[in-house]
Amino acid sequence: MAKEKRCSVRLLVFGASMRKASMNDTLASLGAAVAAEKGASVETASMTDFECPPYDLDTELAKGLPAGAQALHDKLVATDGFMISSPEYNASMSGVLKNTIDWVSRFRPQPFNGKQAFLMAASPSMTGGKIGLWALRQPLEHLGVRVYPDMFALAQAHHGFDPAGRIKDSKLQNWFETTIECFIDLVEASKHYPHMKKQWVEFLGERPDEQTTRVELGEIAAV
Ligand SMILES: Cc1cc2nc3c(=O)[nH]c(=O)nc-3n(C[C@H](O)[C@H](O)[C@H](O)COP(=O)(O)O)c2cc1C
Repeated sequence: MAKEKRCSVRLLVFGASMRKASMNDTLASLGAAVAAEKGASVETASMTDFECPPYDLDTELAKGLPAGAQALHDKLVATDGFMISSPEYNASMSGVLKNTIDWVSRFRPQPFNGKQAFLMAASPSMTGGKIGLWALRQPLEHLGVRVYPDMFALAQAHHGFDPAGRIKDSKLQNWFETTIECFIDLVEASKHYPHMKKQWVEFLGERPDEQTTRVELGEIAAV
């Protein structure tokens, strides 16, 4: 039975593959359905909504931030957290997703800062794309995202789903659901403790420098 709506936990959920028959889209859809079942308000999106030209400072200065970056920015600011199911390419994260993250990181205020995230992957391989998720964690944490410690990587995903898009192995499906519920509990808890949102310093530990220092104090300024 669906839980009563919580203190309005708002989540953005999307698959980071551009492919029409994407297994990551299937996993993202399942994650969105589970999150809604567990009481979150869920908005889904597609990586094609967030496609951007290759990042280049000259392009940014000449043309500004592209529509794909604006679209992800707008959805991020309207949510408490996000869930991404990302493909793994050559033992790393998707280049298309990294490119969009780079563009979105140029907005001020920087919209990733203070968001909670849950990472998922689906792959035909035996590791399920887990190595790519470790790579994806890196830029997100750099940008101030609180990436949930557990990450779900569905190995042999080409055999992993039933026709309804659920995970065939019922134990795995159960672990998936329980982990998402725990993630939502954390997002909800973080909303009760606004001081969990701290300052974001892009190069924390480096000597302050006018050219390179980017700091956002956020809610800590009010402490
Ligand atoms: C260039 C390329 C590199 C890949 N490298 C990996 C890899 O390192 N690890 C892995 O698990 N799968 C790898 N794959 C397989 C992808 O996981 C697989 O194509 C998957 O279906 C992509 O996700 P999607 O179904 O959501 O599009 C690679 C695929 C391509 C095209």
